[in-house]
Amino acid sequence: MSVRRLAPDALQPASFAFDEPNRAFVAAQIAKYPPGRQASAVIPLLWQAQKQAGGWLPRAAIEHVAEVLDMPKIRVMEVATFYTMFNLEPVGQHFIQLCGTVPCHCMGAEDLKAVLKTRIGEERQVSADGKFSWLEVECLGACTNAPMVQINDDYFEDLTPETFGRLLDDLAAGRPVKVGPQNGRAKSEPLGGPKTLLEPGLYDGSAVGAWTAAFDERIAAQKAAKEAAARAAAEAAQVAAAQPAPVPAPKPAEPKPAESKPAESRAGQSKSAAPAPAAAAADDAAKPALLSAARDGRPDDLKLIWGVGPKLETMLHRMGVFHFDQIAGWSAANLAWVDQNLEGFRGRAVRDDWIGQAKKLAAGWRPESAVGEKPTK
Ligand code: FES
Repeated sequence: MSVRRLAPDALQPASFAFDEPNRAFVAAQIAKYPPGRQASAVIPLLWQAQKQAGGWLPRAAIEHVAEVLDMPKIRVMEVATFYTMFNLEPVGQHFIQLCGTVPCHCMGAEDLKAVLKTRIGEERQVSADGKFSWLEVECLGACTNAPMVQINDDYFEDLTPETFGRLLDDLAAGRPVKVGPQNGRAKSEPLGGPKTLLEPGLYDGSAVGAWTAAFDERIAAQKAAKEAAARAAAEAAQVAAAQPAPVPAPKPAEPKPAESKPAESRAGQSKSAAPAPAAAAADDAAKPALLSAARDGRPDDLKLIWGVGPKLETMLHRMGVFHFDQIAGWSAANLAWVDQNLEGFRGRAVRDDWIGQAKKLAAGWRPESAVGEKPTK
C-alpha cells in the first residue's frame, strides 16, 4: 500500500466549488438519503469533485465537500486518503493504472512497466506535455486478460509491449483507440476460440455418475466373489458328506520339502476337539496348497495387497502363504478356507478380492505408492 498524502502546497489551487451542473448532481445525491444522513453521499461527491478538478482531489475540494455535507473536514479527509480511487496529486490527461498483481506480473506486467518508465518516467510523475502519468496498482479484476492497464475509465487488456506502445502513440496523437482486449479476442473468451463449449462430455451427461458407477461395480464384484466362495464351500461339504467316512489314520510326513503343511496349527482351532470326518474332508478339499517356507527364502511383500498389514502378513506366513502367485492360483473355495482361518480378520480375503489383487501383483503391477520399487519376484 503506497503512502497517501495530499499534494504539496505549491500544487494546491486556492479554492474549489462545484460548478453549476455538478451542484445539480450533488443535490440529487443528497436527496437519496433521509434528512441528517447526507454524509452517506460523501463518496459520490468526492468522485465528482475529482472529475471536476481534472482527475485528482485538491485539499480545497475535500474541504468543500465537507462543507456541503456538513461534516467535519477530518472525516472527509479520512475517506479521501483511504480509498485509492481518489488521487491526491495531479495526474496526466491520460491517467494509467498498471496492474502489478501476480497474474498480470506473470503475464508480462514488468515489460509494460518498462514501457511506461521509458516513455513517461517514474510513477506519479506527469509527463512534460501533461498528457500522461501512471501508477502501479493491485488487481483490477481482469486477470483473465492479463496483463492489463486502466486508462481513465477504460480497461486495455491482453497487452504486449508493442501493442501498449502503439496504444500510447494513439492516445498522444488523439487518435481513436479500441477499448478491451488488444489481441483480437472478444472479452475473456478462451484464447484460440470457444473450444470449451464444444467438449461434448460436459453436456451430454456421459460424465455424470461415472465415479459412482465404478464403486458400484467393485462392490458387486466383491459380493459375487463372496457368494461363489460360499457356494464352493457348500458343494465341497456335500461331496465329502456323500463319501463313506474315511478312517482317520496318521499320515507320514510329506516327502515334498517345498510344499509341506505349515508347522503351526490354525489359530482358534482346538487341539482336543477333532472335527467330524465329513467336515474334515470338506475342510481338506478347500485347503489351498501351502508352503513351509518362502521359495529361495524370498517372500513377496504381501502388504502390497490392499488391506493386508504387517499383522496379517505374519499370519499368512505362519499359514504357509508367501507369494502372490500362490494366492493368484486359489479357487474361491481356497479363498474361503483361508478367510475362515484369519483369526481376528475373517472376511477380509473375500471382501478385498485377494485373488484378483494377487493376479495383478503376480503379473508385475504395483500400487501407485509402490511404483519405482523393485518387484519382489
Ligand atoms: S492480476 Fe491484474 S487484473 Fe487481476
